[in-house]
Amino acid sequence: MEIEEKTFRLRPFLESDEPAIVDSLNDWTVAQWLTRPPFPYTAEDARWWIDFVRRDHEGPQPGHFAIADPLDDRAVGCISLDIAETGKAAELGYWLATSHWGRGLATMTARAVVEHGFGTLGLKRLFATTDPANDASQQVLRKCGFEEIGPRLLDRPTKRGATQHILFERHA
Ligand SMILES: CC(C)(COP(=O)(O)OP(=O)(O)OC[C@H]1O[C@@H](n2cnc3c(N)ncnc32)[C@H](O)[C@@H]1OP(=O)(O)O)[C@@H](O)C(=O)NCCC(=O)NCCS
Repeated sequence: MEIEEKTFRLRPFLESDEPAIVDSLNDWTVAQWLTRPPFPYTAEDARWWIDFVRRDHEGPQPGHFAIADPLDDRAVGCISLDIAETGKAAELGYWLATSHWGRGLATMTARAVVEHGFGTLGLKRLFATTDPANDASQQVLRKCGFEEIGPRLLDRPTKRGATQHILFERHA
């Protein structure tokens, strides 16, 4: 499925997005704040992700999207709802290529995905965790109506090494 607005298109990843994903996730400026994607990030990692998202969109609750430029359909980021087995809660995550930072794109796409999660997917609770030093991401979450719950120790550190994260959540 796709979510289209004037300034962005949310769509599944395509095979042709592989170089853009690899470039962005090998950029330390982006990768240092993330927990899940491997670093360094290979073409094989990107192919696995593209296939994972394709299968996610074949299921009943598609939650993972490429953020594409509506003008040329180039993938410039990713935004995801990682849905729990209960089908009622999901973790929000996102990244953008640095060329697209500072334009409000993360805030706009996160708002659209929150609406998709509570509306179309029928989720009841969304949450996100950030590195304590990730001021930009915390600001995105606040602007999307998430409440700061407090520090949480996670098994998976951010690539820059923070194991203590800040938990944010929002209820339907
Ligand atoms: C986090 C990220 C997605 C934000 O993307 P973005 O499109 O630039 O964010 P927005 O333009 O929507 O800005 C959100 C807010 O953060 C603020 N902000 C941006 N950089 C900031 C910084 N370094 N310190 C404090 N606030 C910052 C912006 O001013 C804006 O707030 P405002 O509208 O009140 O001024 C982007 O920086 C990114 O991809 N970072 C690397 C990956 C990452 O951190 N992912 C999240 C992991 S939890």
